[in-house]
Amino acid sequence: MAFENPYKAKILTYQDFVLSDEHARQAKSQWNATIFPKQRPLKIEIGSGYGDFMMDYAKTGEQCNFIGIDFRIKRSFFLARKLEILREQNLSHFDFRFLALNAINIHEYFGQGEISELFYFFPDPWPKKRHHRRRLFQKSFLINLHP
Ligand SMILES: C[S@@+](CC[C@H](N)C(=O)[O-])C[C@H]1O[C@@H](n2cnc3c(N)ncnc32)[C@H](O)[C@@H]1O
Repeated sequence: MAFENPYKAKILTYQDFVLSDEHARQAKSQWNATIFPKQRPLKIEIGSGYGDFMMDYAKTGEQCNFIGIDFRIKRSFFLARKLEILREQNLSHFDFRFLALNAINIHEYFGQGEISELFYFFPDPWPKKRHHRRRLFQKSFLINLHP
C-alpha cells in the first residue's frame, strides 16, 4: 500500500509563498509579470534544504525575486516555517516563493533567459555508481536548463 507523505498537504498551507506544481507551470515565462509584484532579477536556488543560504541571502540587501526549490517534502516544510517568519518581516528588497518539486524539469517552470542567477550548493553526490543517474547535474538537466 502506498502512503501519501503527510507533509505534502501541510506545506501547501503556506500558500502565500509555496506554489503548487500546477501554479508554477502556469507562471512559466511570466514570474515577474504575474507572481512577483516588483520586476527584479529572478534568482533560483535548487536544493534549498533547511534554507540557510536563502535566509542569509535575504539579509544581504540584494534587490531580487528569489525562488527556492527542493523536492524533499518534510525538509521543505521546516524551511517553509522559517520562511513564514521572513515573510512577516516584509523586506522591501527581497521577495520570494518556494517550490517543493523536482528541479530536473526546470524548463517546465521557467522560460529561456528568465533566470538571472542559479545556485545549487552541495548537490547530493550519490557516490555509488549504480546511483549516479540520480544526480541532478548531468547532461539531460543541463539541456533542460539551457536548451
Ligand atoms: C546535500 S543537500 C544540500 C542542502 C543545501 N544546499 C545546503 O547546502 O545545506 C542537497 C539538497 O538538494 C535537494 N535536491 C537534490 N536533488 C534535487 C532535485 N532534483 N530537485 C530538487 N531538489 C533536489 C535535496 O533534497 C537536498 O535537500
